[in-house]
Amino acid sequence: MATAHPTGYLEAEHTPISDELDATDLRVHGELPRELRGLYVRNSPNPQFAPIGKYHWFDGDGMVHGIRFEDGRASYMNRWVRTRGFEAEREAGRALWTGILEPLRPEAMSLPGGPVKDTANTDLVFHRGRLLSLWWLSGTPYEVSTRDLSTIGPERFDGKLTGGFAAHPKVDPRTNQLVFFDHSMVRRPYLRYGVVSPEGELVRYEAIPTESPHILHDMAITENYSILLDFPMGWDPERLKAGKRKIAFDRGGRSRFGVLPRLGGAADVRWFEAEPCYMYHTINAYEVGREIVLVGCRVRDPIPEQQDTSGGVARLDTIELVPHLYEWRFDLDTGETRERALDDLATEFPRINDTVQGTRARFTYNPRIARDSALKFDGLVKYDLAGGAFAPDRVVWDAPPGMFVGEAAFAPRAGGRGDREDDGWLVTFGSSARDDLSVCFVLDARDMREVARVDLPRRIPLGFHSMFCPGA
Ligand SMILES: [Fe+2]
Repeated sequence: MATAHPTGYLEAEHTPISDELDATDLRVHGELPRELRGLYVRNSPNPQFAPIGKYHWFDGDGMVHGIRFEDGRASYMNRWVRTRGFEAEREAGRALWTGILEPLRPEAMSLPGGPVKDTANTDLVFHRGRLLSLWWLSGTPYEVSTRDLSTIGPERFDGKLTGGFAAHPKVDPRTNQLVFFDHSMVRRPYLRYGVVSPEGELVRYEAIPTESPHILHDMAITENYSILLDFPMGWDPERLKAGKRKIAFDRGGRSRFGVLPRLGGAADVRWFEAEPCYMYHTINAYEVGREIVLVGCRVRDPIPEQQDTSGGVARLDTIELVPHLYEWRFDLDTGETRERALDDLATEFPRINDTVQGTRARFTYNPRIARDSALKFDGLVKYDLAGGAFAPDRVVWDAPPGMFVGEAAFAPRAGGRGDREDDGWLVTFGSSARDDLSVCFVLDARDMREVARVDLPRRIPLGFHSMFCPGA
């Protein structure tokens, strides 16, 4: 069904698939540790039907791939997320919505959920033993079964979720609160902040006033605070009036970081300013005395005036994705921000051991961006941030030639004492278009050595975010 397209996101390792499989007793090369127990799931954009017009990587219908590890064996399954939009298109037998590179169509206003299809294609969060599939443009969380990846249905928190729920919420591992945000790029409120209690009750959901509708993608938490992001990038307002969507970056603007107490509200937000930039993904945040430290993968200039034409820089339409490890420090007493680059290697889709989220994580595991115009990763980098220096210690694992990997979730050693932050494994899928196959890699997170490689029943496309659900 895939058609060749110049964006590069329907080709090669990004080529979508059209079926849903279950496969048990997969062939394992090496040895799967018995203390690796649980389900690794990864979300991905995978259009059900040929797109109408131009396709953006972020447009595809959500498809979740899962690999379950138990007693040294592995099984695989994949399912589309049955969103309202997915079901409406299935019934019609064709695509009904255009993607974000096409003009908004007036007739699309009557489609279920509005003119932009909520695909639930971006992220997964595991909270209270339940797995939710989430969308980058803020939609309805869809619960997905950890047993067979079937869609259980939309989660609206007893009707209290009256707006959207964005990708990249954070689970506080100490309190088990689920902290999230909602954003809109077209209507007020442009930003909302929310907290779900450990019992699953929506206890905060309130508008945070911001001046302009910017593209927001992630947030961060510390033990006591939440950090909302606001970068000077959004739809070009003039073009939007004409029904067209084009991303504009305000190079003269400021980056802003809204810090508020965990159960605070709009009146409690303190905005810290920093140099203009864009950031898709934070890595972690933590408190040091009266200072809050945030680490992430920062893009200094997402839409440079001189665009790269070499074909070796990862692009999302007009955005050049050259992210580097970066640190901001927000002084709660003075309101000042200090910021600095931590490395000059291009990495993205970073992950840490989720059990240290919000405290001073020592290690981060970042896929390394390959030289290609479509975003692909050709290795994994383990950073040791303990020293606090520029270019922190890093251990690199190179993917086999021709193989591209994705986000690697940290799977803690089942029954382990948890006294070593890196005592566990990194799990990620790898795909090769050249050999038309996919595998699952399991690396020892301590030394980044491959301990096992599991053959998947067929090639799967590269994707977005992943989660390891221990014991599931
Ligand atoms: Fe993301």
